[in-house]
Amino acid sequence: MTNAKGAALAEVPVRGALPDVAVQDLARLTERLDHAFSGMAGSDLLITGGAGFLGYYLVLAPLAWNRANPSQEPIRVTVHDNFLRGVPRWLSDLDDGALRLVERDVLAPLPADEPRFDHIIHAASIASPIYYRKHPIETMDANVEGLRLLLDHAAERADTDTPVRGLLFFSTSEIYGDPDTANIPTPETYHGNVSCTGPRACYDESKRYGETLCVNFARQSGVPVTIARPFNNYGPGLRIDDRRVLPDFARDVLAGRDIVMLSDGSATRTFCYVMDAVDGYYRILTAGRPGESYNIGTDRPEISMQELAEHVTAIGSRLTGYAGSVVVGTSDDPEYLTDNPNRRCPVIDKARTELDYTPEVELDDGLERALRWYLAEQGASS
Ligand SMILES: NC(=O)c1ccc[n+]([C@@H]2O[C@H](COP(=O)([O-])OP(=O)(O)OC[C@H]3O[C@@H](n4cnc5c(N)ncnc54)[C@H](O)[C@@H]3O)[C@@H](O)[C@H]2O)c1
Repeated sequence: MTNAKGAALAEVPVRGALPDVAVQDLARLTERLDHAFSGMAGSDLLITGGAGFLGYYLVLAPLAWNRANPSQEPIRVTVHDNFLRGVPRWLSDLDDGALRLVERDVLAPLPADEPRFDHIIHAASIASPIYYRKHPIETMDANVEGLRLLLDHAAERADTDTPVRGLLFFSTSEIYGDPDTANIPTPETYHGNVSCTGPRACYDESKRYGETLCVNFARQSGVPVTIARPFNNYGPGLRIDDRRVLPDFARDVLAGRDIVMLSDGSATRTFCYVMDAVDGYYRILTAGRPGESYNIGTDRPEISMQELAEHVTAIGSRLTGYAGSVVVGTSDDPEYLTDNPNRRCPVIDKARTELDYTPEVELDDGLERALRWYLAEQGASS
């Protein structure tokens, strides 16, 4: 298989093979992001939290681009992660001279012997509601103190010969809380409807304060920091035991048992396939305006959890002969549904207009790719 330039597809050197779905997604990403990655050739990129779900394509995409463009200087990628849930197999299996793995909690200062990173992506944070409610202080610290260290570092370098060229902070669509219907679909200008004391506040409010830090470091110190607000990403890289809704459903399908719905199934979301989302994140990093936030997701279809379960059932049936149905259950987490937004759907015009961001994967196609990936990875819990 080759890409449009005739280069071999996604020859990311892993021991063992990458699932076909990932190989195809990476080939498409390297084409879509060619302009952004060309501008990063020969530079150093730091990705905090790179061992997580979004890290999968955030890390693999520039490495795949390096391989597809051997005449260009490679993008050198460094991952800083505390590996709280271990080093995932896809990362420990990578054998690429352009990649460095560093075990570091983002609360620890940047080691002095690290490269002078040109680009920094701050993705380290506990992101799954079940887990951030269990670790609220750690969640807040990564989003506030961990971010602050990186902003201070970038501010110190702002007037030197080697300034940071771009710093991307991962915020969240949850900063909008539970929007009133007049603000759904939700544009970046909406101020939110958020509890500062509820069980989700550790996440929502620390992301909000993180954004405030970013905006003011951009204004006061000229730090080229931008903000991504992801709306429900799913797909390859998302561990099946992560306790987010799609892997929960996929786990039931793979086990051949009924899909357990932990709500009345009426809440609605739009779901953005991770390849589209990662395309958006690199566009923000390289072309976003400092101090600005961008919704990244898809604006259609907005579907209920019940409908999502039905789509997953139909695709599971096609791929594996799955014959389960959807049953109602109760979460063992008593706060599972507290402050859970009823609807979530973004306006993505800002990213479309300013960054030429165009999500292209339709829901059923993305769900099928996700299930294929889970099948190939046999659950991908590590
Ligand atoms: N996936 C989504 O749909 C989504 C939606 C909204 C926001 N986000 C944000 O995007 C970012 C990445 O999300 P994800 O889904 O990949 O999350 P994830 O939980 O899969 O991965 C996060 C990674 O950060 C690491 N980490 C956590 N705390 C750390 C610390 N103190 N020091 C070092 N490493 C630490 C974890 O070990 C993990 O590898 C997060 O900031 C998250 O809040 C994601």
